[in-house]
Amino acid sequence: MVVGGSAPEGLAEKVANEMGCEFVPVEKKSFPDGEIYVRILDDLEGEEVAVVQSTCYPPNQNYMELFLLLDAAKDLGAEKVSAVIPYLAYARQDERFEPGEAVSLNTVAKLIESAGADEVFMVDLHAHRIESVPETFGIPARNLTAAPALAEYFDDKYDLNNPVALGPDGEAEQWSKKAGEAIGADWDFMIKKRLGPEKVEITPRELDVEDRDVILIDDIISTGGTMVEAIQILKNHGVGDIYVACTHPVLSGNALDKIKGAGVMEVIATDTIESEIGKVSVAPVISEAFF
Ligand code: R5P
Repeated sequence: MVVGGSAPEGLAEKVANEMGCEFVPVEKKSFPDGEIYVRILDDLEGEEVAVVQSTCYPPNQNYMELFLLLDAAKDLGAEKVSAVIPYLAYARQDERFEPGEAVSLNTVAKLIESAGADEVFMVDLHAHRIESVPETFGIPARNLTAAPALAEYFDDKYDLNNPVALGPDGEAEQWSKKAGEAIGADWDFMIKKRLGPEKVEITPRELDVEDRDVILIDDIISTGGTMVEAIQILKNHGVGDIYVACTHPVLSGNALDKIKGAGVMEVIATDTIESEIGKVSVAPVISEAFF
């Protein structure tokens, strides 16, 4: 049975349909003081249950909803509770950089487990420095990827010219590799140095992109600064057409306009976060992980 959290609207139902499982709706209310109320509208006794809830904006509220749903599912007698958290917020602080900082990824991992999850699934977790995802969680944890599906979208829609899948920074190599492999294309990555929240400096490597179409792929587009900088470098290298993809469209401010204005064919994302560019659903990737 798939219990539907509210973030993003409709994703849990898509996952249930893809899995051929019963979709269990949730009644949700908010109180004037900001507290929320959830009620799972079916009997979960003895069932294997997946609670689907992204922790996109507003993350604190969506996390609270997730914790309430996980705890309620366990308390209502579910035999096994899987937390499916397509976008896992608070993952960017996966290390203590300054003394006294909370390592928020570890904190949410503990809370997910203690709320009642027996296992956890995420999609393209933004955790670049941790040794292994399973070790971060005390329960079985799987990091799924949407990179192949994103690359296949472009490959199916366009007649790509000798394409290269490219990560805008070293950490994105993991996604460019999977994207490239999925469509039988080369893959590579660039070098990025962050100068501030919205400013990055990207150094080109010896990229073989001249006259070739490029799929620029990353886990997150937030301010769009990374993609815009990468696009400018590519244009200086005489690239062909540029296609941009990310798994999680955080899209702060005018990120999308900045990227489109930099001159690209199309910008797409998945539906882990609601957006106007969510062209690829992660429902099939999640469904496959269960069977
Ligand atoms: C960073 O390591 C991530 O993979 C993304 O590159 C980053 O979150 C993108 O942020 P922005 O769109 O603000 O440049």
